[in-house]
Amino acid sequence: MDRTFLMIKPDGVQRGLIGRIVSRLEDKGFKLVAGKLVLVTEEQAKRHYAEHEGKDFFDSLVRFITSGPVFAMVLEGDDIITLSRIVIGKTKVTEALPGTIRGDFANHTPSNLIHGSDSPESAEREIANFFSPEELVVYDKSITPWI
Ligand code: PPS
Repeated sequence: MDRTFLMIKPDGVQRGLIGRIVSRLEDKGFKLVAGKLVLVTEEQAKRHYAEHEGKDFFDSLVRFITSGPVFAMVLEGDDIITLSRIVIGKTKVTEALPGTIRGDFANHTPSNLIHGSDSPESAEREIANFFSPEELVVYDKSITPWI
C-alpha cells in the first residue's frame, strides 16, 4: 500500500470545495488516513516547496499557500502517487482535462485547488512536515478488496 500527501489549497477551502474534492478521492477508492485544516506557517510553506526555491514564482507560491487555511490529507492506495495526480489533473489549468479535479473546478494556474506529492520521497517529507506519526490512523477499510 502506497501513501501520499494531498493538500486542498486556500482557494479550494474558500470556495467550499473540500467535501466535493474529498468525495472524488474516496470515489476512486483511496483510503483517507489523516486530514485536518491547517494555517500553514511561512517556514512550513518554504519547507514544503523547498524544491522550487530560487524559481521566479517561489515567493508568490509561499504567499498563496499561507494566505488562508488548507486541508491537509494523507491517503493510501496502490500506485496512489501516480493515480492521485491523474485524478487531480495537470498543473496548468489550461491543460487539465475535464473529469479531473482541476479540469472541472480550476480556472487559474496558481489557484489550482490541490497539491499532490510527485514521488515517494516527496510524500514522506511532505507528510512529516504536516503530521506527527500518531495522527496517521491505522484501520481496515473493507471495501478495498472489491475495487
Ligand atoms: S516546475 O518548475 O515545472 O517544477 O513547476 P510546476 O510543477 O509547474 O509547479 C510547481 C508548483 O508551483 C505552482 N506554481 C505557481 N504558483 C504561483 N505562481 C506561479 N506563477 C506558479 N507557477 C506554478 C504550481 O501550482 C505547483 O504547485 P503544487 O502545489 O506543487 O501543485
